[in-house]
Amino acid sequence: MTGVTLEAGSGSVMLRIGDDGIAEIVWDLPGRSVNVLNPESLAAFAAAVDRVLGDPAIRGAIVTSAKSGFIAGADHAWLSALAAGATAPELLETVMGVQTLFRRIEKASKPFVAALNGTARAGGFELALACHYRIGVDDANARVGLPEATVGLMPGAGGSQRYLRMLGVMAAMPLLLEGRLLAPGDALKAGLIDAAVPPGELLAAARRWIGAAKPDALVKRWDKPGFVPPGVDPRTAQGANAFAAAHALQRKRSQGNYPALDAIQQVVYQGWVVPLDVALKLEAKYFVKILRTPVARAMMRTHFISLPRANKLARRPVDVAERGIAKIGVLGAGMMGAGIAHVTAAAGIAVVLIDRDQALAARGKDHTQRQCQAAVEKRRLTPAEADRVLGRITPTADYAALAGCDLVIEAVFEDRALKADVTGQAEAVLGADAVFASNTSTLPISGLAAAARRPERFIGLHFFSPVERMPLVEIIRGRQTGAAALARAMDFVRRIGKTPIVVNDTRGFYTSRVFATYIDEGVLMLAAGIAPALIENAGRSAGMPVAPLALCDEVSLELIHKVNRQTAVDLGPAFRETAATRLIARMVEREGRIGKRAGRGFYDYPAEGRKRLWPDLAGLAGARVPSPPIADLKERLLAIQALEAARCVEEGVIEDAGDADIGAVLGWGFAPWTGGPLSYIDMVGPAAFVAACERLAARHGERFVPSAWLKARGEQGDLFHPMIATKAS
Ligand code: NAI
Repeated sequence: MTGVTLEAGSGSVMLRIGDDGIAEIVWDLPGRSVNVLNPESLAAFAAAVDRVLGDPAIRGAIVTSAKSGFIAGADHAWLSALAAGATAPELLETVMGVQTLFRRIEKASKPFVAALNGTARAGGFELALACHYRIGVDDANARVGLPEATVGLMPGAGGSQRYLRMLGVMAAMPLLLEGRLLAPGDALKAGLIDAAVPPGELLAAARRWIGAAKPDALVKRWDKPGFVPPGVDPRTAQGANAFAAAHALQRKRSQGNYPALDAIQQVVYQGWVVPLDVALKLEAKYFVKILRTPVARAMMRTHFISLPRANKLARRPVDVAERGIAKIGVLGAGMMGAGIAHVTAAAGIAVVLIDRDQALAARGKDHTQRQCQAAVEKRRLTPAEADRVLGRITPTADYAALAGCDLVIEAVFEDRALKADVTGQAEAVLGADAVFASNTSTLPISGLAAAARRPERFIGLHFFSPVERMPLVEIIRGRQTGAAALARAMDFVRRIGKTPIVVNDTRGFYTSRVFATYIDEGVLMLAAGIAPALIENAGRSAGMPVAPLALCDEVSLELIHKVNRQTAVDLGPAFRETAATRLIARMVEREGRIGKRAGRGFYDYPAEGRKRLWPDLAGLAGARVPSPPIADLKERLLAIQALEAARCVEEGVIEDAGDADIGAVLGWGFAPWTGGPLSYIDMVGPAAFVAACERLAARHGERFVPSAWLKARGEQGDLFHPMIATKAS
């Protein structure tokens, strides 16, 4: 294409005008890997739109991007700053400004086509929705949609209203409430995009559409007289019922913890009966209200600030140069070892996978074979790529094959002597520079390092199960772990696409230690005679993904009992037996109820139908007490975890509040609406949290007693995440 190229707004958006009179508006924010909406890029885009509309030589415009994705949504830093620093009227003006810009495109008498060259999310997809036509690419990795609800927000640039008008209530609602992103093929089926073509044909297809566009195609359905959204009408009895049912379902899932979900349902309901321009104002008002809620602000901080910081390795030792990782060893090809080998090979690193004999090692590799096969069937991987991944894994029983490894991860049985033995065998062939990591879930790293010749090169790399799905790796620094080992471990975690948090060595590290308090509190409630069903409801209502007693069954009561016994041995007289450890011991030893896998735990697992609480459970505990309000139980379950997380900060187990929050949310699904346990304390307020702990301590025991350190923080109003207070509107 010849023609002119114009740049607008410090080069964020380019306008190329072709000889055929078709303009390309190309998003390409300088110095960033993805395009985002921020004041500069929006101003640049507005200038390009002005030019297209004002220049009679331009027939229409293709909106596209020069990055691998289209537009990722609003700039997170901008959004967070707005939430904290702008008044409600200022915010409303900003949001309405974006809506007006998008509406100008929609009402233009020249065609605008969104050529979605890759992922288009949130505000980026809302821009596309305002265009007259959307073309996606045939790319299994591209996604389009409005994921705002997943970070406690809602669409604010017309998304809720255009979804409603394009899809109808019943189809739009779940997409909005779950923040679902769709592959282009699915978006096409749903009617959110109009075509999907191979990447190389995207611009040509857009040009063709513009060339053939009739004036009628430039008037959206909802701007034609007599339009009503498709599907159910909320003004009818049937429609009212559908809304009520959808609301009940949403409340059941979210337990009322997410204000954005209620707002989405309200704005879809209210937006149905009014013209789009009125509906957009409604959406903007709700958006502003939601953006300023503590839930949205906490979730945004965790997802937009803490998470990217961890992913960028903000805490990596700065004076250690990055050294590539070409080959690693994995000791133990069991459940964890096989998963670690798979994600490592998928990231392009060669893996020596060792087990006690060749057959066991090969069985570990079979896991990757099955995973790759499934990925090929889903078109996430080509057969050639799958072969390459598999080719990187060498299963063997021969430790000599570990020669030349940059890193070895041990994932053999949880047994100190065995771990010491395999550490010695590996070190005998490893170079002096190699790092040795243990995936132990319970054994302190400094103790394991005692068996190593080079304890400064020994570290903990705690993966979660299933390895492929769980995004977090907890890196544990032993007493003697050096900076080079930490840097290598962090580089590795980033390389395999996971999020690292860094913690210091202690029993249970950070995640298992805090997570254990949740389970423990549930069992203590049970032992105190609280109705089991009420305990379970309280866990779910607190926003925990799995209720405490159900979780005991999942983890297995037998394993919890084993860890308790091991802790008793390790701690000696310092170990305190509690009503919870006694109840677990009785379940396992006397009742033979060891957990879900055995079909018998706190629940019964009938072959047919759903699990149900074991009817004799109440008999195990003390006398049944009158049911306390569920809000009290919910507070107990969250406060005990938050308090333990705070203790980890106090003791220096975890040094970064952001790490503590993402470790909790990604590691064991800690109530996401809070942003994490330390965000929860900030949300409650430092002084109010201390007061709540004192009240709980008086009623339920000394485990709730806040330390002098925490009390001092409460008195001074110290936040774990200092931030600017919301400006009064
Ligand atoms: P697993 O029992 O599935 O696998 C252990 C593997 O180690 C087996 O394949 C076994 O044959 C192999 N092994 C035993 N002795 C060996 C030797 N001398 N040389 C080479 N291989 C040997 O156990 P899993 O669940 O994979 O756990 C492994 C480690 O990961 C344990 O330390 C565990 O605490 C830890 N972990 C487990 C998690 C889980 O959810 N299962 C989560 C996080 C850590």
